[in-house]
Amino acid sequence: MKDMPHITLPGGDKMPAYGQGTWHMGESRGRHTDEVAALKLGIDLGITLIDTAEMYGSGTAEEIVAEATKGRRDKLFIVSKVLPYNASQRGTIEACEHSLKRLKTDHIDLYLLHWRGSHPFAETLAAFERLQRQGKIRHHGVSNFDRDDMAEWAQAGGKAVAANQILYNLTRRGPEWEVIPWCRERDIAIMAYSPIEQGRMLGHKALAEVAARHGATAAQVALTWLLRQDGMVVIPKASRQEHVRENLGALDLELTEQDLADLDRSFRPPKGRTSLGML
Ligand SMILES: NC(=O)c1ccc[n+]([C@@H]2O[C@H](COP(=O)([O-])OP(=O)(O)OC[C@H]3O[C@@H](n4cnc5c(N)ncnc54)[C@H](OP(=O)(O)O)[C@@H]3O)[C@@H](O)[C@H]2O)c1
Repeated sequence: MKDMPHITLPGGDKMPAYGQGTWHMGESRGRHTDEVAALKLGIDLGITLIDTAEMYGSGTAEEIVAEATKGRRDKLFIVSKVLPYNASQRGTIEACEHSLKRLKTDHIDLYLLHWRGSHPFAETLAAFERLQRQGKIRHHGVSNFDRDDMAEWAQAGGKAVAANQILYNLTRRGPEWEVIPWCRERDIAIMAYSPIEQGRMLGHKALAEVAARHGATAAQVALTWLLRQDGMVVIPKASRQEHVRENLGALDLELTEQDLADLDRSFRPPKGRTSLGML
């Protein structure tokens, strides 16, 4: 069982910095057993954060999470998300209640607006605050928000925002220009989604070279590069048990100044503002 790193949220509560993603889980009956087993293995190995959403498998990913976490809910930090189409005041409350039922739990630790839609932020926020008062969610936040969205959310009353979940990895460094510094100044957690670019970055020569120096793998290097940053949470998704084990090895890896310089040469930091990517 690994000692998991944690970050501190704006109100002082702790949040695990390493979690398991669940996008595309629950979409095929044939993969169901493997997906539950992978999540369970992660929990056995000490991973306490699970990221899911009402969108994933139209709710079936949340049911898989319920199956994998049965009997162990108390130790876990569960993140789920409301779809923007449901994010009216009433719709958010209903969506959360449906998620709670599918997750077979009485609370969600962090509840996010999945991306910005057409419902006024003030409505979503009023629902988040009510759900929080009722103890149905512990913290709330947003996803796929750039710096201007964050400022608008704060203006609408969202000062208690705990996290912003964004597409961020070595091949997607645009957020370093504005939104990450903006969040970091306010201790808002950054949850880096698709941290290994859904596997597409793993054949990159620079990653292979750094990995070889440490007897590590490309996925481990990509995850460690994220984990070393303040306020950063990573949520790689793995439905294969060998991937769960391999990715956790990122926690034992330390990158040197030379490694970081080599990675910077191949994966350039941004030189200006770019729009936030989304998968
Ligand atoms: N908020 C949002 O809008 C948003 C958007 C995208 C994702 N997310 C969240 O972030 C999580 C992670 O992102 P993601 O699922 O898009 O991508 P990811 O974690 O970067 O990559 C997942 C893919 O990589 C494979 N993989 C995992 N470990 C590997 C390894 N060591 N070697 C080779 N392949 C490996 C997985 O395969 P197997 O499954 O076969 O093991 C899966 O196909 C999601 O699951 C979801 O919870 C949020």
